[in-house]
Amino acid sequence: MKTFPPLTVLFKGLITFIPGAYKIFCKGTGGTISSRYCYSVWMRHLVVTQGARNGIMPKVVGELGPGDSIGIGLASLLSGVEKYFALDVVKHIDVKRNLKILEELVVMFKNKERIPDKKEFPNIIPLLDNYDFPSNILTSEILFTSLADKKLKQIRKSVSNNASMEPMISYFAPWDDKNIISPGVADMIFSQFVLEHVNDLEKSYGAMFTWLKFGGVLSNVIDFQCHGTSSEWNGHWLYSKLLWKLIVGGRSFLLNRQPAQFHIDILERNKFKVLKTERFYRESKISIKSLAAEYATISYGDLQTTMIYMQAVK
Ligand SMILES: C[S@@+](CC[C@H](N)C(=O)[O-])C[C@H]1O[C@@H](n2cnc3c(N)ncnc32)[C@H](O)[C@@H]1O
Repeated sequence: MKTFPPLTVLFKGLITFIPGAYKIFCKGTGGTISSRYCYSVWMRHLVVTQGARNGIMPKVVGELGPGDSIGIGLASLLSGVEKYFALDVVKHIDVKRNLKILEELVVMFKNKERIPDKKEFPNIIPLLDNYDFPSNILTSEILFTSLADKKLKQIRKSVSNNASMEPMISYFAPWDDKNIISPGVADMIFSQFVLEHVNDLEKSYGAMFTWLKFGGVLSNVIDFQCHGTSSEWNGHWLYSKLLWKLIVGGRSFLLNRQPAQFHIDILERNKFKVLKTERFYRESKISIKSLAAEYATISYGDLQTTMIYMQAVK
């Protein structure tokens, strides 16, 4: 098994030690450039947390790592959320893009569009049993207020206020202090394909616990795959610490390489009550004994876990 990365991967890492060179390889963060992606992700988190929220709609939500746009949060505001906190490490703000996505989302909500499913977005989880517009959750009464001209005007005004997007939206990038949000204010915190990138997981889970109200819901999707750093989907676990440092190079983050069980343990250590963990598996061509020393105790289940959906309450 190749314990050495493809040369292009190493080259990319090394070149990012040159100040400014990272931008050459920075191709955006993922899916939030598409309004349909944002709509699909938000609706899935909303539908799968319905039970944990006892059917009560969230008023204050937080998102870790929105990426190229705040579209998932905008979808939450169009669903009746009153305040959305966005926390990233890199400032990806683009007012024009956010406004465009907002208008596209408004049309989708007004048309009560079906949630884009596996056919359109094969890699998005959590999966749903039913992708019809969730009229039982987003009732006509809720939509009447959340799509009213007054609310749309307020959202547009916040998005146009590039600096912080106050008052409906608070965007922090980089965020490094959990005190930027008052304790116990959030009904729901979610993230999509972010926690595999976070360097300081203890700090982030601790902050998310602090920001949530008692009974508030945490809803996270994590992708454990190598993100192009190996020819094997889980080959990043083969590399020694030193080799991994060279692959990361001068980038402020890449992958923390922590397996699924690490996230479950950290949730429990932070006094979250884990309600749901849904794993997605793929066969591993790598054996546990060929992994780097720090992964010697990884379970076979973790070695084969490509993605996880985790839901917990405070
Ligand atoms: C793969 S992108 C996912 C973006 C978006 N959630 C999506 O679904 O397309 C990962 C995002 O996590 C952000 N990120 C990395 N470390 C972070 C941290 N410690 N706190 C908050 N966001 C972080 C990155 O800047 C980036 O926006």
